[in-house]
Amino acid sequence: MAQFPSAKVTAICVGGGRTASSELVALGAERWLTMAHERSVALSARDLTKTYNTGATEVRALNHVDLDLYQGELVVLLGPSGSGKSTLLNILGGLDKPTAGEVLFRDHDLTKASDRELNLYRRDHVGFVFQFYNLIPSLTARENVALVTEIAPNPMSPSDALNLVGLHDRQNHFPAQLSGGEQQRVAIARAIAKRPDLLFCDEPTGALDSKTGILVLDAILRINREMGTTTALITHNAGIADVANRVIFFADGRIVNIKVNETQRSTSELAW
Ligand SMILES: Nc1ncnc2c1ncn2[C@@H]1O[C@H](COP(=O)(O)OP(=O)(O)OP(=O)(O)O)[C@@H](O)[C@H]1O
Ligand SMILES: [Mg+2]
Repeated sequence: MAQFPSAKVTAICVGGGRTASSELVALGAERWLTMAHERSVALSARDLTKTYNTGATEVRALNHVDLDLYQGELVVLLGPSGSGKSTLLNILGGLDKPTAGEVLFRDHDLTKASDRELNLYRRDHVGFVFQFYNLIPSLTARENVALVTEIAPNPMSPSDALNLVGLHDRQNHFPAQLSGGEQQRVAIARAIAKRPDLLFCDEPTGALDSKTGILVLDAILRINREMGTTTALITHNAGIADVANRVIFFADGRIVNIKVNETQRSTSELAW
């Protein structure tokens, strides 16, 4: 599975088989269905279940989740703490495996992949951004990004990646010489410098104030728009949902609703 074939149109299924169409909020749904038929599916999750057994109790973090991510779309995942958002993102990004179900990427089922194959999937196709930036303190911004570009098959230069997130003048700064928002933008540059097909962001603005959070969100939106990177973003800030194409609502390990945004708002219009 080291070489994945190029993307092609597969089954179109808004919200997956188990999300009844009645659950699709009417706003923009018709327009989305039209768009969805014109788009390729970038990644599909089918009937995902994840259970954790910790001693006497069993936690069902995901409970029969179906979801398709479409090429180039921006999806926001909302839901209470513990509802399974990070568990889903980690499985979609090849960091974890479900207890049952399938994750299909270009006709390959990631749940059947070996550790080496998953490693290649993550290396070549996936960018991750977490709440805490995980930069290496002894390396400059450019060197932090270069760590990834040195092993990727078709990377952009670290300078180009840092330009994309508005940090061309901070390339030689160490993380301690950067603000929280700037460090997060370095982390975004690091995630997208390999030109990933999929960008997964788990509460990327969670540690930031609103002004800084908007700069970070702008960087993610720009990459989604200009590079066409399929993006899924977890947040606790419901205001952010207005920048998405679709908003996926989680509760108790399930997708309980999907809202289609008729128009994507810009960050300047958001009530943070
Ligand atoms: N390694 C683990 N072992 C046991 N239970 C776990 C583990 N990881 C997650 N869980 C449980 O699975 C459920 C879903 O967790 P998850 O981290 O996906 O939630 P979340 O929606 O991302 O929450 P938050 O918004 O707080 O980040 C929770 O009940 C959590 O306690
Ligand atoms: Mg989480």
